[in-house]
Amino acid sequence: MSKKLAILAIESSCDETSAAVIINGEVKSNIVSTQVIHEKYGGVVPELASRAHQQHILPVVDKSLKEAKVGKNELVALGFTRGPGLLGSLLVGTSFAKAFALANGTPLIEVNHMQAHILAHFIEEPKPSFPFICLTVSGGHTQLVLVKDHLNMEVIGETQDDAVGEAFDKAAKMLGLPYPGGPMIDKYAAQGDPLAFEFPISEMKGFTYSFSGVKTALLYFLQKKVKEDLDFIDSNIADICASYQHTLIETLLQKLKKAVRKYKVKHIAIAGGVAANSGLRKSITSLAEKENWQVYIPKFEYCTDNAAMIAMAAHYKYLAKEFATQQVSAMPRYEL
Ligand code: KG4
Ligand code: ZN
Repeated sequence: MSKKLAILAIESSCDETSAAVIINGEVKSNIVSTQVIHEKYGGVVPELASRAHQQHILPVVDKSLKEAKVGKNELVALGFTRGPGLLGSLLVGTSFAKAFALANGTPLIEVNHMQAHILAHFIEEPKPSFPFICLTVSGGHTQLVLVKDHLNMEVIGETQDDAVGEAFDKAAKMLGLPYPGGPMIDKYAAQGDPLAFEFPISEMKGFTYSFSGVKTALLYFLQKKVKEDLDFIDSNIADICASYQHTLIETLLQKLKKAVRKYKVKHIAIAGGVAANSGLRKSITSLAEKENWQVYIPKFEYCTDNAAMIAMAAHYKYLAKEFATQQVSAMPRYEL
């Protein structure tokens, strides 16, 4: 029988503390502890996030090993998110990983969080064939990535200002919706008319995105409407959410279509927290039918932050013998 490749992976880049175990490329456990403390502040408070990671990391790791029925001595490697993300949050995961690796004699593997979002597609069937284009949409990033191989990826376009997740979250804040705002907008949008109101689609060169303009347009729109009618937001919440979400999705898909044409690929994927958006999932599915693309949409649990995707990336890096040393440090800005 071939060697059992059991890898433990840790994710702590933002407000999810997560640990997963993968054996021979198959995810055996994926424990995610979401920090609810940020809800009352309407956004992630970095210092509170670091503290919560400190509290949760050990129980989460213990639980993931137990659920996978794997002993520490069986691990061939320990993967962890090195970046990008919040420095304090990353430091907790990185320091924990280094201490664990040192004490247990386990080789370390550093993982780029954005690469891992894309590799989440390899957790389950159907898996995309190379090359494919991945639209990675999260709270901190919006990228079009040409994926040539598991570990060979090229960013062909990205946002020059806000990420699309930020555009969702900031709009939700303007509308008085609780954090995290993306899922709330998604929920209201499902009951509204996407063409009720019109917001601008940014027209940037090439494959560059911009989401700051549409966010400001929403702010001015709301200020004007609320002046005329104090109840405007409450009485139109579904239509506002549907129209705003529709604009964000159209912006994302217009560039994606262009990129697919230029790079002549037929396999398309979406990844990251905003890939959980039901409007985006629906729109890309119908666009794929029209354009004859093979589209890959991850399960909800693998869209938002999780350690299973970090484990998947660590698995491929293990096969490529890409190990880190004890000198490795957290990297809040980490290019793909
Ligand atoms: O990938 P992720 O969990 O964390 C980062 O790496 O940033 O993405 C979080 C982002 C947040 O902006 C959140 O509002 C957004 O993903 N999000 C959604 C939905 N679920 C999560 N946005 C729109 N619709 C959703 N259903
Ligand atoms: Zn993420």
